[in-house]
Amino acid sequence: MVKRFAVVLAAGQGTRMKSNLYKVLHPIAGRPMVLHVIDQLKSLQLDKTTTVVGYGAEEVISVIGERSEFVTQEEQLGTGQAVMKAEGLLGNLDGTTLIVCGDTPLITDKTYEALIEHHESSGAKATILTTNAPNPTGYGRVIRNEKNEVERIVEEADASNVERTVQEINTGTYCFDNRALFEALKNVSNDNAQGEYYLTDVIEILKNKQEKVEAYLTFDFDETIGINDRIALAEAETILKRRINAQHMRNGVTIIDPENCYIGPDVEIEQDVTIHPGTIITGSSVIKSKAVIGPYSEIQNCTVGEGSLITQSVVKDSVIGKNVNVGPYVHIRPETQLEDEVRVGNFVELKKASLGKGTKASHLSYIGDAQIGSNVNFGCGTITVNYDGIKKHETIIGDDAFIGCNTNLIAPVTIGD
Ligand code: UD1
Ligand code: CA
Repeated sequence: MVKRFAVVLAAGQGTRMKSNLYKVLHPIAGRPMVLHVIDQLKSLQLDKTTTVVGYGAEEVISVIGERSEFVTQEEQLGTGQAVMKAEGLLGNLDGTTLIVCGDTPLITDKTYEALIEHHESSGAKATILTTNAPNPTGYGRVIRNEKNEVERIVEEADASNVERTVQEINTGTYCFDNRALFEALKNVSNDNAQGEYYLTDVIEILKNKQEKVEAYLTFDFDETIGINDRIALAEAETILKRRINAQHMRNGVTIIDPENCYIGPDVEIEQDVTIHPGTIITGSSVIKSKAVIGPYSEIQNCTVGEGSLITQSVVKDSVIGKNVNVGPYVHIRPETQLEDEVRVGNFVELKKASLGKGTKASHLSYIGDAQIGSNVNFGCGTITVNYDGIKKHETIIGDDAFIGCNTNLIAPVTIGD
């Protein structure tokens, strides 16, 4: 089988983002955009993935970690120069090289696969992933000849008025015959409006050598959006949100208002969960069957058990059992564990607390650094006074205890069954 390599371009600063954060690290659905790209490469079974880093190299390398090799482009003189930096690692190899930009995070593995297949079966030296953009402004345009063959790519800044009316754009994703790519790159110059070494010039160079150049047109423009500014960033957020929500709905989750519900890419949700508007579920959260989440709730890195209800509350890094009732207006802070049938609501704050089965704290309480048994009742206004100004102390309460209203339990304190 032909060897397959990928080069991810991620050295640019992202001037148009107007940000101290390097462009490819801006999150979409809570995950740095370059990681979306790297994740989609996983299923392609590549023999080698090389990421070109420059601005913020250290941060970008630490985010991507072991999933790629890295080469550095000290000065950002264009996408062509960026790819050239990978020559040391790739130049002498035979195979297919997929080039992707770190700022096109929504292209899926299926599209990459289709592109690679098209490329390898046509025997072209280069295949461009193109799409028809409703508004092509800012993208490189694909210029075809009278036989409808791809001739070259012209950047917005270099395009004539007529060329700018072309709607078929370069998505910044390509497949190349690896050797042909590095050979052609040697002939790229920076004689253009931006004074950069454009990778896109390789197309015309190959074409002039009578090599076969192809375009693979995808119909899903949304997938190929390039993130150059915060407007595109918000658009990508919306597109990805719709994609994630649609997948959950296909799997049997009811989402009352999908435009108004934000679910992270790693969240697992079982069938017959209902999600109300204004809900944000992120991290590695797992929501079990028949749970009802929202409205207006935030859940981060939590497991929510079967049939539990979370209403107008914030829950982080905690485990919620079955048929638990949380809310309205509860703040559950990290390392809390609620056993089955617990009820907490109406301005209750929990932190590093475990509450046994059927325990209730229904009004205005703070329970922190506490181990609480089952079927305990907290009256309104109960406080575990866990902090003496220097150290945190624990409160331990046994099963079936009854704590009256306005009680301060000054920790360390133990109350029996
Ligand atoms: C590029 C393409 C354009 C295409 C568009 C698709 C070129 C010349 N133009 O334009 O045809 O329509 O993507 O989104 O390739 N980068 C480096 N080193 C550099 C310059 C850029 O690593 O010296 C990286 C950036 O970090 C970014 C990617 O390459 O991830 C694309 O660079 P960008 O400046 O955003 O190119 P566009 O102007 O969007
Ligand atoms: Ca771009």
